[in-house]
Order: sequence, then structure tokens, then C-alpha cells
Amino acid sequence: MKALLLTGPGKIELTEIPKPQLSPGKALVKIKAVSLNRRDDRIREGKYPKIKFGVTMGSDGAGVVEEVFDAEHKEWIGQEVVINPNIDWGANPDVQSGKYTILGMPVDGTFSEYVSIPVDRLHHKPFHLDFLQAASLPLGGLTAFRALFRKGGLTAGQNVLISGFGGGVAQFAFLFGKAAGANVYVSSGSDAKLEKALKLGAKGGYNYKKDANYTELWKTKGGFDLIIDSAGGDQINNFIKILRPSGKVVFYGATNGLPNKLDLYRMFWNQLSVMGTTMGSDNEFSEMLAFVSKHQIRPLIDSIRPFSKIESSFTDITQPNKVGKIVFQV
Ligand SMILES: NC(=O)c1ccc[n+]([C@@H]2O[C@H](COP(=O)([O-])OP(=O)(O)OC[C@H]3O[C@@H](n4cnc5c(N)ncnc54)[C@H](OP(=O)(O)O)[C@@H]3O)[C@@H](O)[C@H]2O)c1
Repeated sequence: MKALLLTGPGKIELTEIPKPQLSPGKALVKIKAVSLNRRDDRIREGKYPKIKFGVTMGSDGAGVVEEVFDAEHKEWIGQEVVINPNIDWGANPDVQSGKYTILGMPVDGTFSEYVSIPVDRLHHKPFHLDFLQAASLPLGGLTAFRALFRKGGLTAGQNVLISGFGGGVAQFAFLFGKAAGANVYVSSGSDAKLEKALKLGAKGGYNYKKDANYTELWKTKGGFDLIIDSAGGDQINNFIKILRPSGKVVFYGATNGLPNKLDLYRMFWNQLSVMGTTMGSDNEFSEMLAFVSKHQIRPLIDSIRPFSKIESSFTDITQPNKVGKIVFQV
């Protein structure tokens, strides 16, 4: 079968490998669709812990269960599934265990025609989604869900700013925030993406390349209860300025690095919180899928490509005109 392996520093290869063997507790899933995350490209670049060469990459996938090892799991055979990429989150919902990893490094991931996966990682594919849409959900959907609801405590009627709308995770934060009845605003470095967000129901859009202080917004809308960000850098001090008292910034990445300073004065006086989040627990994965089904949410897909193009598509994850997920038909 074909699989995309990390073969060396900076090197990935779509190559022929043996079909995986089943072992106790596992199911063999025929993968129908996979999607790319920024994480995959960071692994390729070697900017990720626990890198191992020869591993099949990929965290996101959906498919059909073909076989199971144990007779007690036979009801899964033929089921259309989406895979939870968490490995060993552990019992504490607040934080992952020390053993925690994500499918696709250092353990074999989804970028292959078949995966052998513990049965407890399988979830029924939301009925209203096709395989391509379902495959775009796992990593980004889970990260956005925890950031918005568990960490951010978002409720209907609150003002939330989703920073960097074009991002794979940010689009889920946008869609989930809207479904929860919040007033969802977005920022982006692209006016075309802002226009798209407004058409999709954003209350306002701000180009961080033109006005990183969000001047007009601060004057007219009274500020935000919650800001979700993955860019980091000095921009965080602008966010601190445009939060309402007791507001929160929840960040899940720091693509632009660390801030040179942090406005602690404003933070303590206005009772603000800045907090980090990573992925989400297994329960949150189930809750995220239930939320997506309840609200009939359809992920934003940037492009659909054949699996044979996955190797050459990696660099497109950083393309400036991308909105949503790059997905592959396997
Ligand atoms: N902690 C976790 O569990 C977790 C999970 C997933 C991802 N991450 C991390 O989060 C980051 C984003 O991941 P992703 O998969 O969503 O990546 P992505 O699809 O490549 O999105 C990156 C987005 O960042 C936005 N951006 C760039 N500079 C910005 C700035 N100055 N202000 C606001 N937004 C800016 C851009 O939005 P526009 O195009 O709209 O300008 C871009 O589309 C990466 O660093 C990734 O490693 C962490």
C-alpha cells in the first residue's frame, strides 16, 4: 500500500510499504480521506519533539473499518469512522499526561491507504459529512473546541475575536463560535479572506497587516470577552488592550514567536487572563463531534487533491491565500 513517510531531515516520500498487521485491541481502517495540518510540515522541517525517521505521517483521517482483531469489536466492521488522533491523553481533563503524543509522530499516522488503530480511537463519522469533510475535523476541530469552550468559556451573546481566520484551526473556532451564538469577529492578513468571513456571518473583520490596534473596533464595539490566537508575538499586547474587563486571550500556537514585553499593568487592573491550550481530551473529542453533528457544521475546505499529490502539497500549507483545510482523497 502507499504511505507518506518521513524519510530523513526535511525529506518526505510517498512510497510502497506493507499493509499493517492487526494486533489485540486494534481495527484495520481503509482510509478514504486525510487532511494536512501545520504540524505535519513542522515535523517535516524537524521542528517538533520526538522525531523518528521511517514513520508514516498524518494526524487527520477518516475511512471505513475493514477488519478487527477481537471478535468483541466486530460491530465496527463496515462502519464509517473518523479517527481521534490523541494518544494517552490520560485521566486528567485539565492537562495531558506525560506520555501524551499525537498520531503521526512518533507513532505511525493516517497518511496511508490503511491504518491499524486501537478501537477506542474510532468514532462514527458525523452523518451529514462526507469523508473529505470528516477528515478535516480531528486535530483542528479538537483544538478549536477546547480553546473556545473549556478554556475560553464562550457563551451565546459574547464577543469573540478569531485571529488569523485563514488558519486550519481558526476556521473551526469561527464556525463553532457562530454555532454557539457568540458575536464572532475575525482578523486576517488578507482582505479577500475577511470578505469571505463576513459573507459567512462574521460581525466584523480586521486586517492585522493594516491596523493591528483594531482602532475602530475598540471604539465602536466595546471590546472582546475572548480572543483566540495562534500567532503570538508582540500582537498580544494589542489583544490585551481590546479585551473587556475579565476577558481572556487563549492561544494554541506562537507562529510569530514570543512577545518582547507583556502589559501586566493592564492585565491585573482589568482582571484579564492569558492562557495556553493544546489539543483536547478524549471526552472533548466526542463532545466536538456531537457539537458538529448537532449544529450540522461543515468545515471550510481550501482544496481537494488526489493522495498522489500529498508530497508536493506540503509547502502549500503556508500559502497566503489558503482558507481552511487542504484535504486528500485516498
Ligand atoms: N496547541 C495545539 O494543540 C495546536 C493545534 C494545532 C495547531 N497549532 C499551532 O497553531 C498554529 C496555527 O496552526 P494551523 O494549523 O491553524 O496553521 P495554518 O492553517 O497554517 O494557519 C496559520 C494562520 O495564521 C494566521 N496568521 C499569520 N500571522 C498572523 C498574525 N500576525 N496575526 C494573526 N494571524 C496570523 C494566518 O491567517 P490569515 O491567513 O487569515 O492571515 C494563517 O492562515 C501553528 O503554529 C500550529 O503549530 C497548535
